[in-house]
Amino acid sequence: MKKTVLITGTSTGLGRLTAKYFAEKGWNVAATMRSPEKETELNEISNIKVIKLDITEQETIVEALKEIVDVFGKIDVVVNNAGIGMYGALELMEDADIDRQYEVNVKGVINVIRNTLPYFREQKSGKFINISSVMGRSTALPLGSLYNMSKFALEGLTEGLFFELKPLNIDLHLVEPGGFESNFGENVKFSTSKVIGDYDIITARVSEQLKAAQRPGATSNPIAIVKVIYDLATNKRTAFRTVVGKEAKTVLLLRKLLPIKTFLNMLGKRFVR
Ligand SMILES: NC(=O)c1ccc[n+]([C@@H]2O[C@H](COP(=O)([O-])OP(=O)(O)OC[C@H]3O[C@@H](n4cnc5c(N)ncnc54)[C@H](OP(=O)(O)O)[C@@H]3O)[C@@H](O)[C@H]2O)c1
Repeated sequence: MKKTVLITGTSTGLGRLTAKYFAEKGWNVAATMRSPEKETELNEISNIKVIKLDITEQETIVEALKEIVDVFGKIDVVVNNAGIGMYGALELMEDADIDRQYEVNVKGVINVIRNTLPYFREQKSGKFINISSVMGRSTALPLGSLYNMSKFALEGLTEGLFFELKPLNIDLHLVEPGGFESNFGENVKFSTSKVIGDYDIITARVSEQLKAAQRPGATSNPIAIVKVIYDLATNKRTAFRTVVGKEAKTVLLLRKLLPIKTFLNMLGKRFVR
């Protein structure tokens, strides 16, 4: 029987590439997204079913899961990929943006996991692949405290779930990429202020850096990340955590080797002079 993967956030970026890759490899793919009515390409691929799913709206998750099981029979792997970035000085953030960062990157993943678990328990197997970031293990860019928080939370959530899911034959994995080309930079909400000027210099530098990191060829090739996800889904890789990208590996190595303040000061020098 063909295997089935559910991927969240397949309208752009990593989720979209992952959906296409799994489909090429012959998997049934539930390519979920917030606005399936806008999709024109993925629904032309025979083994991909485009389905509405907003990870912050429980009813869309419940409906999507029912539809996927109806169409494909079962779900073998869930890739929790959907995510957003709220950047900027914390003081300048709006309350709604702080809530949204948590609602999508943390509570959204919790929603998907909790609604999938009854299916995984019934079939006595399943796998969650959670897309974290190098920012889930270390700060790597200033003004990312909220995004950092959300990915650290995702790491804690995934680690903490290990004990209760292992006896049920349900696997968990974390993928921790460094920067890669996608719509992420465009979608990042960057808080600024016309009144408080104290964060202007660092804000301008980080904003520049974030945009530069998203330019073609500037960062790691997202296909390397897709392959890691596929290898985890097919048991070719079994590691709980996989760091992807040279830059991410260097940051985490330095973080491990250096005293934390030395590490932070060194990183900060790139942005604040
Ligand atoms: N790009 C990087 O440098 C980088 C580095 C490390 C980790 N990551 C992580 O990689 C993952 C994928 O990001 P990406 O770089 O591919 O960015 P992206 O191109 O912006 O894709 C993000 C996807 O998430 C979807 N999404 C946002 N809110 C959602 C919601 N409430 N429900 C369902 N889907 C929602 C977006 O859909 P809409 O089109 O509807 O908004 C989009 O399809 C994220 O978890 C991100 O944190 C990215």
